[in-house]
Amino acid sequence: MKAKDVIIILDCGSQYTQLIARRIRELRVYSEILPWDASVEEIRSKSPKGIVISGSSRNVPLSEAPTVSSEILEIGIPILGICYGMQLLCHILGGKIAKTGSAEYRRIQVEIEDENAKLLKGLPKRFCAWMSRGYSVAQLPPNVRSLAKSEDGSIAAMATLDDRIWGLQFHPEVAHTEHGLEILRNFLFDICSCEPSWNLEDWVEEKIKEVAQIVGNDKVICALSGGVDSTVAAVLTRKAIGDKLHCVFVDNGLLRLNEAENVLSVYRQKLNLDVRYVDASNEFLQALKGITDPEEKRKAVGKTFIDVFEREAEKVGDSKWLLQGTLYPDVIESGQESRGASIIKTHHNVGGLPEEMKLQLLEPLKDLFKDEVRAIGAILGIPHSILRRHPFPGPGLSVRCLGEVTPEKLELLRQADAIFMDELDSSGFYDKVWQAFCVLLPVRSVGMMKDKRTYGYTIALRAVESLDGMTADWVYLSRELLDNIAHRICNEVAGISRVVLDVTSKPPATIEWE
Ligand code: XMP
Repeated sequence: MKAKDVIIILDCGSQYTQLIARRIRELRVYSEILPWDASVEEIRSKSPKGIVISGSSRNVPLSEAPTVSSEILEIGIPILGICYGMQLLCHILGGKIAKTGSAEYRRIQVEIEDENAKLLKGLPKRFCAWMSRGYSVAQLPPNVRSLAKSEDGSIAAMATLDDRIWGLQFHPEVAHTEHGLEILRNFLFDICSCEPSWNLEDWVEEKIKEVAQIVGNDKVICALSGGVDSTVAAVLTRKAIGDKLHCVFVDNGLLRLNEAENVLSVYRQKLNLDVRYVDASNEFLQALKGITDPEEKRKAVGKTFIDVFEREAEKVGDSKWLLQGTLYPDVIESGQESRGASIIKTHHNVGGLPEEMKLQLLEPLKDLFKDEVRAIGAILGIPHSILRRHPFPGPGLSVRCLGEVTPEKLELLRQADAIFMDELDSSGFYDKVWQAFCVLLPVRSVGMMKDKRTYGYTIALRAVESLDGMTADWVYLSRELLDNIAHRICNEVAGISRVVLDVTSKPPATIEWE
């Protein structure tokens, strides 16, 4: 990779840490997240231009919470502490922190006191910021000045007299904070002297060379799912190593209407990928027979997948590598589990392949966020029809067909889901939501069709907005649209007599029903 300016973000366990990294990358500076207990040697080895210390979801006294090594102050580069990060810096520098209330996020007015402070340059005197109440700075350390106050009089921003260490009690990375991006821009360009040189085109070029070099003459196998991540990983790798890449598309019988045909035709005709199609639907349906428990279903699908994939890998011969579309958020989540700093999401990737396969993982996208992967997909010429696709779980429709999965129920679900997607597409909502789908509930109710009594299943509509799938809000679809969808599903799918709407966010619910 070409030398580039790097900002290190030390994660103390905030839900916003990844957002800080994304915002910095939006400003075209490369950022990398390390856990709060990263050693100074590890940080130095990245030659960063600056360090950001994140907030923390833990509302505990500093003595019991994540702390960073005070040696990082000796590296000599600028440091910005955000929320908990600012309190930590205050504590390390000899100031005092006090409890001010329970930790809850809210919008608060901030008033700038030092208009010449580089970090707040160009901002209006007063602006709204997203702040967590809980603890605040009670006494500034020596040689540290206050730059701004919040409406309750507490210190909202601070800096050392030499302008090297900075703190913000609010979250500049969150969209609710006015001028947050300008503050980060000031930090990156005026304080850390970064160049805005992070660029996805260069990334693609370098990555193709890197993959070619790592793989050499070995064979690589890849399970393509039709999703954005595996497709982008495969197209990039194909460009790097040509026909040494062998892709397998497993039809598990749990796909959506015409999904296998549509995806395969894009792969073969537009993307020039060598894909072996394996119809294993009977095997999967057999494995799911009689199972109603959600976790058991997931296990049955996972195990069958491994059996099928292993068989197919044998046919390819002596592959050394398994290509996976792992993204940055997955790496961070699994990586930090041991250090107990972050909120952990269950890892959903293909994973769990048997030890004896002895395949090394090739994960070319593991530095990237989902939106960056989509942008890279476009650079690589992948059609929009693939890049715009909503996430789809590995166990497919089995986790959206509640109770026992049968071919008949799957067919009802496919028909209803296709109508929902069609309506979302024509109303322009498909691209506005993170994910939308139908769920078939094993609940039957009475309906009326053409003056006849019916007794059919229930479809639940699920549409959510999200940034990364870790939290999500249900989406307000228009009344007219919902009306159309319900009407069409009940009229066009014989066997469904009722449509309901899921208005639960995540948390407390998960996005998928099982
Ligand atoms: P939940 O239901 O946990 O889902 O809120 C969060 C996001 O992950 C997707 N999901 C999966 N993706 N394999 C996957 O590749 C899985 O087993 C899986 N389960 C859930 C889900 O669709 C949502 O986008």
